[in-house]
Amino acid sequence: MFHAPATPRPKKRSKPAQDSFCRREEATFQDVRIFLVERKMGRSRRSFLTQLARSKGFVVEDILSDAVTHVVSEDSQSSSLWAWLKGRSLSDLSTVNVLDISWFTDSMREGRPVPVETKHLIQDILPEAPKAAPVNTVSQYACQRRTTTENNNRIFTDAFEVLAENYEFNDIEGRCLAFRRAASVLKSLPWAVRCVGATQDLPCLGEHTKAVMKEILQYGRSFEVEKILSDERCQTLKLFTSVFGVGPKTAEKWYRRGLRSFSEVLAQPGIHLNRMQQSGFLHYGDISRAVSKAEARAVGNIIDEAVHVITPNAILALTGGFRRGKDFGHDVDFILTTTELGKEENLLISIIESLKKQGLLLFSDYQASTFDISKLPSHRFEAMDHFAKCFLILRLEGSLVEGGLQRAQGDGREWRAVRVDLVSPPVDRYAYTMLGWTGSRMFERDLRRFARLERQMLLDNHALYDKTKNEFLTATTEKDIFDHLGLEYIEPWQRNA
Ligand code: CTP
Ligand code: MN
Ligand code: MN
Repeated sequence: MFHAPATPRPKKRSKPAQDSFCRREEATFQDVRIFLVERKMGRSRRSFLTQLARSKGFVVEDILSDAVTHVVSEDSQSSSLWAWLKGRSLSDLSTVNVLDISWFTDSMREGRPVPVETKHLIQDILPEAPKAAPVNTVSQYACQRRTTTENNNRIFTDAFEVLAENYEFNDIEGRCLAFRRAASVLKSLPWAVRCVGATQDLPCLGEHTKAVMKEILQYGRSFEVEKILSDERCQTLKLFTSVFGVGPKTAEKWYRRGLRSFSEVLAQPGIHLNRMQQSGFLHYGDISRAVSKAEARAVGNIIDEAVHVITPNAILALTGGFRRGKDFGHDVDFILTTTELGKEENLLISIIESLKKQGLLLFSDYQASTFDISKLPSHRFEAMDHFAKCFLILRLEGSLVEGGLQRAQGDGREWRAVRVDLVSPPVDRYAYTMLGWTGSRMFERDLRRFARLERQMLLDNHALYDKTKNEFLTATTEKDIFDHLGLEYIEPWQRNA
């Protein structure tokens, strides 16, 4: 059996020097072996302190050897002390406490060796400490930032969004993007900006954005933003573009014709509304109201059931904002495919057919695939992908929704209309489609920009192409794509850039 020694001793050290304290074995504190450094202390003071310590039962070594556990110095210049220590050829300096005289005086006062604290230590100055590289630098690329749905800087980002949208309405793309980028950077911060000075190391914040922030910090609002919000043209364009199927071009056209409200648009002779816009107006109240998580889940159940009646090989996955963990969305996005390569297009058509038969289809715009495997990924960010897809409006019964429907006040109906997007890629493009449709838009934009500028690669919803090797890179998971790009994996819920 293994017996522990009755008195624990520190690890065995080499034999103490002969001329050290002769009655060492009678000392009270055997485990602590002190060496007093004469440099700066002087010989007489050293000798006095040695006597004092020994009289109180401490072991004081005369010679610096491996037996020493506590080196005490009055030399406050740690670099010269350490340089001297390192020249003493001790076997392991890292096991020795190198202490300021304060540890010694504290111990004398207490009549026992006090525990070593940080304040007692004389620390070695590391050779050329690496120039304080800012540990928390924020990347200019949204795909290198982690952005959850928690936004600590909403007062600024809401203002920036108003400005960005206004530039968009006026076709000033550069400035629009600048404000969206700035908003995206602020959204990624785990802290709230309380003064403009705190933003000096952040990327993508220019003079204009900082001026707006300053105003908000000083007055609680931005006058530039308020001016835009009260501007008739801006208000009208915002109203018109809130209709499903109405983009900035159409909105501008209607505004130029002097139209200012929905009733004026609908009463105007000679205005042609396409099918999408007609449905947009018809279901305006419902589809301009946010979709809740519970409603999104109920829609998922409906589609899932329909899909598995058609084929057991189907794969259905939630994507878009709800996959990023948002509580509300303007629509619900799904990827739908099948393990049988080539069968995915018909699957989408069958689903639409099934929803129609069940009386759930209020609107459908189906776009057949124009996907060409030999084509290089698009350079343009906003380019639509070429997979088969459909933009739907579905009828959702309240009884299917846990906790009930999101309903407008005074609405007695038992159902609501919900916007749903389905995209159907071939299964071997599933990972690229998932990455492309999960968003956010700013995250996607920067993934592509990063790929192009930092890696000489082209990325879109279909594929990743390495321009230096002239080859397509295959991926079965999103993680594979991040790996190809040499990026840390960012979880879907961290992509709310
Ligand atoms: N998307 C796309 N091609 C389309 C439509 C959408 O690549 N034809 C991508 C967008 O880039 C976005 C994602 O699909 O990243 C989801 O689009 P959307 O539903 O418009 O936005 P969400 O992020 O889901 O926001 P919301 O919650 O408002 O729906
Ligand atoms: Mn969406
Ligand atoms: Mn969508």
